[in-house]
This record gives sequence, structure tokens and C-alpha cells, in this order.
Amino acid sequence: MSVRLNRAYLEDYVSASEYEELKESVKKAHNELNSATARGGDFLGWLRLPDNYDKHEFDRIKAAAKRIRETSDVLVVIGIGGSYLGARAVIELLGSQYFNELSPLKIYYAGNSISPDSLNKVLQLCEGKRLSVNVVSKSGTTLEPALAFRAFKALMEKQYGKEQAAERIYVTTDKSKGALKNLSDMEGYESFIIPDDVGGRYSVLTPVGLLPIAAAGFDIDTLMAGAKNAMERFDDADIDKNDCYAYAASRYILANKGKLIELCGCFEPAFYMFAEWYKQLFAESEGKEGKGIFPSSLIYSTDLHSLGQYVQEGKRILFETVVRFLEPASDLALQADGDDFDGLNYIASKPVSFINRQASDGVLLAHSEGGVPNIMIEVSKIDEFNTGELIYFFMKACAVSGALSGINPFDQPGVESYKLNMFALLDKPGFEAAGKELRKKLK
Ligand code: PA5
Repeated sequence: MSVRLNRAYLEDYVSASEYEELKESVKKAHNELNSATARGGDFLGWLRLPDNYDKHEFDRIKAAAKRIRETSDVLVVIGIGGSYLGARAVIELLGSQYFNELSPLKIYYAGNSISPDSLNKVLQLCEGKRLSVNVVSKSGTTLEPALAFRAFKALMEKQYGKEQAAERIYVTTDKSKGALKNLSDMEGYESFIIPDDVGGRYSVLTPVGLLPIAAAGFDIDTLMAGAKNAMERFDDADIDKNDCYAYAASRYILANKGKLIELCGCFEPAFYMFAEWYKQLFAESEGKEGKGIFPSSLIYSTDLHSLGQYVQEGKRILFETVVRFLEPASDLALQADGDDFDGLNYIASKPVSFINRQASDGVLLAHSEGGVPNIMIEVSKIDEFNTGELIYFFMKACAVSGALSGINPFDQPGVESYKLNMFALLDKPGFEAAGKELRKKLK
């Protein structure tokens, strides 16, 4: 057993009877998920995916990843939101924030903003390098990745000629519709399918995440095996027997007590991008109809020297979910010094992991005694198996959280508002009149 919920620091905040009262609602959410009668029931493909994925497509992913590694110095992954964060989260959790410095294949990300300078810098990094591109977009029409892909397509065609460039461009998109699918068919790019019933932020275990993760050199069989383990472990309707549901129930109870901000914390800096993935998953899934917990994140001990002050003594609207890796991927022990020049001899014989653990125990205690309830998610160590398990744990917890608050956790109607304004202000064909009106309102 790897991913495990530890509610020890929650005892002062959530009582056994509060869990008891939620049991039936959780059971109902479980049954609705399993019978696909939940709100957004058309987007439940991720639920059985670890056991029910296209094996032929999976083999093609592995073959493409091998080819990318053999023929490239750089892979650029172009995508935004759910078509970006999952891959990067896994690559940097498993490979650390120094992945690119340590790996023969560098992975850069583009199309996740509209900053010309950011795009120019990635283009500059790629010039003259043996380059492959994976462009990822389910709709195939999202502006940010489309802009970046235009720039990279031009660079690659200049560098390799049209035909050879086409052999280095991999497309991950819908099976039949969208501008990217049409272009891919026309140019003969190798393409991978995002299943219809899997939405962006639940798509990391589809080709969206799997191709970049495999190209980065990680074992996607083991990642899927971890997710499958979670799928089996977290399939009991009873919250007493299901840590994933107990986590969703804890969040729900805390939110109803005014704890409206969840801080996902970790004492491993490699978790930074995973926390970005978690934030998107929960914010886009839950934040609607005037409801939802605002997800935020912290890396400790870094943030103890910045946000930690607020956590300890600021407004008591926070709760913390700390993902704790029990074994470090590697360890370090410092030497005692004859002069004890820095006064650290008292810990010099201890491994740094031990010091990190004492710090985390101290933090959890201080925060929970200071009015910040703490949920601990314990994970044995950072590896592919546990990462797969953790991904599934959070996705299922998010779906159940959404069902408990009665919203559809699989749509994102709110992101359309900015798009409509942006297209109007850009005078996209069909939006010109709206653009005229909007420009009158601009301040
Ligand atoms: O979770 C989601 O559905 C979104 O974040 C999308 O992934 C994001 O907007 C990108 O969309 P697309 O893959 O269609 O380019």
C-alpha cells in the first residue's frame, strides 16, 4: 500500500459523527460515478482508464517516445491547461526541477501563455538543435498552443524542410474533429487520440501525458500499474474503507466550516509542478455556481520563509493538505566539523531526510495548533508507481468532491468568458460587432 490518508491532525477539526453524516452522500456519489449517472457522466472515461486503455495506441506511444529520444536533443511540448500540466507535473516530480540539466533529452514547454518574449526564448533555445515537437490540444482550436505551433512549424520546416519536419511533429488531439486534426491528416503527422470521454484535466494518463512522460525516459507501464492499483483500492463506497473518499469528505466538511482555501503542501521541491496540476484539477472542476474551495500550493521549507507567516497567523480560512513522501529518493549526511564553525555538529550525524522530517513534524503541529486543519497524504516514495497512484487518488477525490457539492466537475463554462472577450477584441471573424462594443467599455 503506498498512497494513504493520515487524519491524525484533523481530529480536533472534524468529528467522527460528521463523517458518519456524510456517509450516504458519499455512497450516492460513488454509485453515480460507477453507473455514469453523475453530472458530467459523459466524461468518466478516466475512471476505468488504467485498466481499459488502448494497448495498440500505448505501444505506438512507446515507439514514438523511443524515436524522439534517438533523434532529438530537444522535445517541445506545446499545450495549455490540461493539455500541458499533467505531463510536466509527472516529468518534474520523477525527474526533479533539474530534469533538463540532468537529461540528455531536454523538454521545453510552449503554448501555455501568449507572451511573445517567452515564445521567442523557447524558439531561441531550440535553434540548431535536433528537435521534435508534440502539439497537444483536444479541441485543436485553443489560441495559445495554436500560436506557438505556427511558430514551431515554421522553424522546423526552415530547419528540416517540410517532409522531414513532418516526421518530427507528433500531434495529440481529438480522433476526428478540430483544426489540428485536419492539419495533421493533411501533413501526415503521427497523431495520438484523446478519448472523447476524458476531459483535459483528467487526461494525464492518456497520450496527452504519456507521450512526453515516456519520451522523458520514464516507465509508463509502471505509472499505469500504480493508477490501476489506486483504481482498485479506492473503489469502496464506504469512507471508512476508502482513503480517497475520506479525503473528499474531509475537504467538504472543512469548507462548510469556512475553511475555503486548501493549501497543497509538500516538503519536496520536485512536487512544485504536480501542485500546479492539482490546482488546475480542483479549480476548474469545483469552482463554479458560486461554490468551491480555492486551491493553492506551498513548497516547504521554502515557503515557510514567505507564505508561512500567513499560514500560521493570518485569516483562519485555510486548511492544509500535505503530501508527505516517507522515503527520500536519495539522501545526504553532513560531516562533523572539528571547530563546529556553524554550530551544526548537533545534527551533523543525521541524514538530511531526518532533518526534513523533523521540520515537517514541527510545521504540521504548529499549523494545526494555530487553527489550520491538516490532512496528510502519505506516499512511500517518489517513483512511477506511486505517482500513478497519486494522480488517480486526486482525480477521483476531485470527482467525488464535485458530486458532494452538487456541481459538474467535468465542465469549465467559466473559461469561455475571457475567450469571448479576447476574440472580440482581436476582431476574429464573426466577433467584430462585439469587439466594437467592448472597446467602448475599456478603461
Ligand atoms: O481541463 C481542461 O479541459 C482545460 O484546461 C483544457 O485542457 C485547456 O483549456 C486546453 O484545451 P485544449 O486541449 O482543447 O487545447
